[in-house]
Amino acid sequence: KTIYILNGPNLNLLGKREPEIYGTDTLMDVEVACTQVGAEFGLTVKQLQSNHEGQLVEWVHEARTEAAGIIINPAAYSHTSVAILDALHMFEGPVLEVHISNIHKRETFRHHSYVSARAEGVIAGFGVNGYALAMRQMATLLT
Ligand code: DQA
Repeated sequence: KTIYILNGPNLNLLGKREPEIYGTDTLMDVEVACTQVGAEFGLTVKQLQSNHEGQLVEWVHEARTEAAGIIINPAAYSHTSVAILDALHMFEGPVLEVHISNIHKRETFRHHSYVSARAEGVIAGFGVNGYALAMRQMATLLT
């Protein structure tokens, strides 16, 4: 089974981007950690990142036939995107939402995520380790 890990805008610069908030690990480090957890449970990881909302929507469409589950950090689109939420509603497997920072501890505009309405659960504030934790939960849900 394949798990899609989708990352939204500005996360391509993870590691360089506001390290005091998001840490110094890169998206490649995230992929390595998640691939390792996946291997423990016979799950394959495909990680994707885009700065474009429509691209993320299209990857969710692709996941309908290609993925058993989705782990998504929609980044800033969490707080704005009905389009990503609607796409996720058409996906039949589990959806887990990850935020590196604790969005509830930050500015009020980060407290609401449209995507959470479709997520089995949300991990926020555990740094990049949140992705690997989500992978473990994905394994619990799928294996
Ligand atoms: C984020 C939190 C969002 O508010 C922000 O826009 C991001 C990253 C996080 O992982 O903590 O880009 O999703």
